[in-house]
Amino acid sequence: MAEALRVGIAGLGTVGASVARVLRDKAAELTRQCGRDVIVTTVSARDPKRDRGVDLSAAKWFDDPIKRAQAADIDVFVELIGGDEGAARASVKAALEAGRHVVTANKALLAKHGVALAEIAEKRGVLLNYEAAVAGGIPVIKTMREAMAGNSVTRVFGILNGTCNYILTRMEAEGISFDECLKDAQRLGYAEADPTFDIEGHDTAHKLSILTSLAFGTRIAANDIYMEGISNISQADIRAAGDLGYRIKLLGVAQRTDSGIEQRVHPTMVPTASVIAQVHGVTNAVAIETDILGELLLSGPGAGGNATASAVVGDIADIAKSRPGFQHGPVFGLPAKELRPYKKAQMRSHAGGYFIRLTVHDRIGVFAAIAKRMADNDISLESIVQHAVSGETDAQKTVILVTHETTEAAVRKAVDGITKDGHLTDKPQVIRIERAG
Ligand SMILES: NC(=O)c1ccc[n+]([C@@H]2O[C@H](COP(=O)([O-])OP(=O)(O)OC[C@H]3O[C@@H](n4cnc5c(N)ncnc54)[C@H](OP(=O)(O)O)[C@@H]3O)[C@@H](O)[C@H]2O)c1
Repeated sequence: MAEALRVGIAGLGTVGASVARVLRDKAAELTRQCGRDVIVTTVSARDPKRDRGVDLSAAKWFDDPIKRAQAADIDVFVELIGGDEGAARASVKAALEAGRHVVTANKALLAKHGVALAEIAEKRGVLLNYEAAVAGGIPVIKTMREAMAGNSVTRVFGILNGTCNYILTRMEAEGISFDECLKDAQRLGYAEADPTFDIEGHDTAHKLSILTSLAFGTRIAANDIYMEGISNISQADIRAAGDLGYRIKLLGVAQRTDSGIEQRVHPTMVPTASVIAQVHGVTNAVAIETDILGELLLSGPGAGGNATASAVVGDIADIAKSRPGFQHGPVFGLPAKELRPYKKAQMRSHAGGYFIRLTVHDRIGVFAAIAKRMADNDISLESIVQHAVSGETDAQKTVILVTHETTEAAVRKAVDGITKDGHLTDKPQVIRIERAG
């Protein structure tokens, strides 16, 4: 049998401790599958005294993950610290430069430094595996990197943040407010004490930027993503969406257009009958649309110790199965040097259907004025209805418009016009409609 694969784990929190546990509990299974033992030889975290719920006595403890990453007595460095700078970045860079394979679950690090790290990995002929960084346990990186040769991706989109999907699912099922759902999510451990990163779309954007690079062969451009979170989604939106045959999801979408590549994260209306609309609670899903395959949807657990550990252990096993001298595939599907610069499509030229909810004074002529603003901007309406919403006074009414395909620029101009006309009693709500199978 080949020599054992020696694994050093840095970070023993939710994911790191689960990875150590799975490697221990499934040791015999992994040896059979990989043709060699996979052994955790060293571990590193901040607090050496903390009980990690797993026996780590056979592994050497190190305080400094960077020194650990460079040491010659490991074959794989597994970074589960988190963060886009500091110990995570320094240790991954040091490991790759020292010729160690790296496995990480760190989307923030890859979104910011992924291409630079890929260049080092490819130069040193080592693997940089990151399956757990996007959609946790769902094997989407492997699918896009290895199983789609010859396919040209036209669009990739998904539910990439379990916290947001949990909140939107409960708002719809129980008719409760965003704030109430968020509090519950925090109590149950589905949302952080400071939830901004999740609910304002940053976490989804990090993951989307990695998928965009894999889908379109472009350099990662995490700062060029149009982003809106879910904190202004109300019960009125959820109910109106339901009446119209839609469900609201926070989607990350990357799409090839004539003017460049769109990357956007925002609340989105998807047809209630579509497959992605059936993805509830903390579950994640990624849809990949290509010229040959059509639409593929992968769905499953996007976070949590075990699900994430499953992806990390899969990455470690791939390294255990690889043989010295074997040419490894490039980190982002194409050699890092061949990744093209990202050409951003302007959000103003985004084309699609729109849901517009307006709270207006109940006056004669308002309906006609709204319809005129739409026509003036060449927006064709699928429907315009006055919608009864509880809490309305006699003096105000809600008008819901659904447009046929139009542009973002036209919708913004029309809504600005309606606002200037002085008919609105509240901020207008605009939600994009996404085509989904
Ligand atoms: N949690 C999930 O469901 C999930 C899902 C997908 C991806 N991820 C990613 O996986 C990574 C880890 O997440 P997590 O949830 O496991 O985080 P976590 O529970 O906060 O654990 C972080 C670990 O890193 C250690 N650490 C922090 N700074 C360190 C340093 N300077 N040197 C050495 N160790 C250090 C901590 O040590 P102490 O324990 O001693 O404080 C802790 O063990 C992140 O990149 C995250 O984005 C997480």
